[in-house]
Amino acid sequence: MSNEVTIERIKLEDLPVILKVAAMSFSEEARRPEVIAPGLLRALMQEPKYQLKAVIYDEVAGFLIGAKNKGQNEAIIEWIAVNPKYQKRGIGRTLLNEFEKTAKEDNVARISLITPFARGFYEKCGYTLVGVHYKLIKSVTANIIHESSTNIKLISWENTKELIDAIGETEAWNFLATFFDSYKQQKNLFSAAVVRNNKIVGLIVAKENEWSREIFESSYLFYIDFDVLQELLNALIAECIRRGALIAGITIGKESDATALIKNGWSEAHLPIFWTSYKFFKNI
Ligand SMILES: CC(C)(COP(=O)(O)OP(=O)(O)OC[C@H]1O[C@@H](n2cnc3c(N)ncnc32)[C@H](O)[C@@H]1OP(=O)(O)O)[C@@H](O)C(=O)NCCC(=O)NCCS
Repeated sequence: MSNEVTIERIKLEDLPVILKVAAMSFSEEARRPEVIAPGLLRALMQEPKYQLKAVIYDEVAGFLIGAKNKGQNEAIIEWIAVNPKYQKRGIGRTLLNEFEKTAKEDNVARISLITPFARGFYEKCGYTLVGVHYKLIKSVTANIIHESSTNIKLISWENTKELIDAIGETEAWNFLATFFDSYKQQKNLFSAAVVRNNKIVGLIVAKENEWSREIFESSYLFYIDFDVLQELLNALIAECIRRGALIAGITIGKESDATALIKNGWSEAHLPIFWTSYKFFKNI
């Protein structure tokens, strides 16, 4: 198969067919024209040589959209996709090889990327997993209403002074920035604190998933220990049930906490609207 494939630069006129391949191949948000089209257009204007298509007998079978990180010897892969009817025949690997060759010629030393669904592909192609951005989910349909802990208190951005006193200015800044980012998307946010001895020791902001009301997810979590995290998650689940959502979702940075939660009934999310992603790199 790879003998029949040629790798060429994407041209502006390829936009419709690239979007079609994306719609067929991706499960996550990248399948949406409004996500991928602006990225591709920007990339084509700035760095056309990092935008590649695989062509088989005049048909675009796949593509790779990438960029060079300015000021660093690093290139990034933003999207790679192969039409499902041509998958597992070496086209993805051929696109990747050509991308690496271009990058090498450009004095790039390292390629990096984040992927939700192509972990196995990158492992096969010699990339090293350097981090996991955990998204965990728990179905709440089978739960009876959780008694939320008495330490939980609803909190608003107007508690700013109390927040700063308790968690410091940097963390309060993180909380407020995430709060207002989420607030821009929807007004009906859930924000709560765990309070021990009159001091805030945990914070959560949660909202409906952007695409489905079935998932109620955290957009911000701060906690001083695992017990506090569990109190926050009980509050999240109680709120999830109160709102009639079916799945509670969280983003967890610390691997050991994610592992402990998975042992506790949470599972790694691989849904098209909520997914764990994997960070990879390769020195070239
Ligand atoms: C990921 C993708 C681009 C791979 O393209 P492809 O043409 O099917 O890949 P290749 O045939 O070149 O595969 C190279 C190797 O990776 C393996 N591989 C490909 N996809 C894999 C997967 N999802 N899981 C595990 N291994 C995989 C192949 O079996 C092959 O292994 P081998 O060398 O031992 O035979 C393609 O599956 C795709 O479009 N997926 C959907 C979109 C996506 O998830 N993109 C990445 C996020 S941006």
